[in-house]
Amino acid sequence: MKEINCLSSSDSDLEAAAALLRDGEVVGLPTETVYGLAADATNEKAVAKIFEAKGRPADNPLIIHVSSISMMEEYAEDIPSVVYRLAEKFWPGPLTMILPKRNNVPYIVTGGLETVAVRMPENEIMRKVIDLVGKPLAAPSANLSGSPSPTSAQHVIDDMNGRIAAVVDGGRCSVGLESTVISFEGYDSLRILRPGFITPEQLNSIVDDVIIDKNITSDEAPEVKEVLSPGMKYKHYSPKARVILVREGFELFKKYVSEQTEQDSCSLIFDYDAENFPYNYMTYGSTPEEQAQQLFERLREADKKGIKTLYVRAPRREGIGLAVYNRLIRAAGYEVVES
Ligand code: TXA
Ligand code: MG
Repeated sequence: MKEINCLSSSDSDLEAAAALLRDGEVVGLPTETVYGLAADATNEKAVAKIFEAKGRPADNPLIIHVSSISMMEEYAEDIPSVVYRLAEKFWPGPLTMILPKRNNVPYIVTGGLETVAVRMPENEIMRKVIDLVGKPLAAPSANLSGSPSPTSAQHVIDDMNGRIAAVVDGGRCSVGLESTVISFEGYDSLRILRPGFITPEQLNSIVDDVIIDKNITSDEAPEVKEVLSPGMKYKHYSPKARVILVREGFELFKKYVSEQTEQDSCSLIFDYDAENFPYNYMTYGSTPEEQAQQLFERLREADKKGIKTLYVRAPRREGIGLAVYNRLIRAAGYEVVES
């Protein structure tokens, strides 16, 4: 395929992106979480191109992105009333809800499942393009399968040049990690399948019973047969560098790094650690929000710098930190150090 076409967010460029999507092409689009690799969710051939471009396993289902509640109702059925309360509070935004699908959602989108993942993104460029196409857009993160998700148009170009028609540059993603994915288990009960920017505490303000799936908090690789969200069973978010997650306070972290002998190694630490850190390092912010926004960018940067081993200071596993930790432990292939 030819060079990727880089589009701006001008009206005429968004019209051009929508025209490509109506024609069954795949286009990289910004969302507030990460860039998505979008296609018309009702067009099986177009959706097949997403799986091909990413090298994604066919049993890993996609999220459909909608621009209105009525669009959700057109493609999902038997919608529990709690969905409307959650949508009122968190949509448009980084929350994905798993619902029973209608017949008009092709099985290639859902990986053969009877359910479909639905999200109304906050990013206005994305919602404008959905409106212009008039159909929901199926979109996974726009990275090659297994590598860190893209948080800028340049990341999409790095992974997808020659594989997709175009990318719309909407600047840096404000959230930086993928949406929180939830499913419903009866009246007033939900399960978090993938942690994200919308935290368990926030969900708890709407729904009494919030279950955090055990695969999220476990430090061991999940048993494949126990995974409810197919995407969680694959190695994920990994740079080429070996990532080692170090669950220690700063002094023990420093001691650990001082004892390592690997060549081309680097540490990924918090901004406030840097002053007292005598080894090679990069930083990924101070607050959990900053860590979420910068993590994937830093993992990609590590590869650009030719780093072979990356020692990462682990965030606290609460609030947004739960999501940051979840991406890191997968990037590390469950290699965790704790003395
Ligand atoms: O923020 C996001 O969610 C980004 C942007 C582009 O919207 N998208 C994204 O998509 O992260 P993807 O494909 O990388 O992750 C979708 C996750 C996967 O873990 C997948 O297994 C899960 O959602 N999923 C999708 N449909 C599902 C279903 N019917 N049942 C259970 N899990 C599902
Ligand atoms: Mg992904």
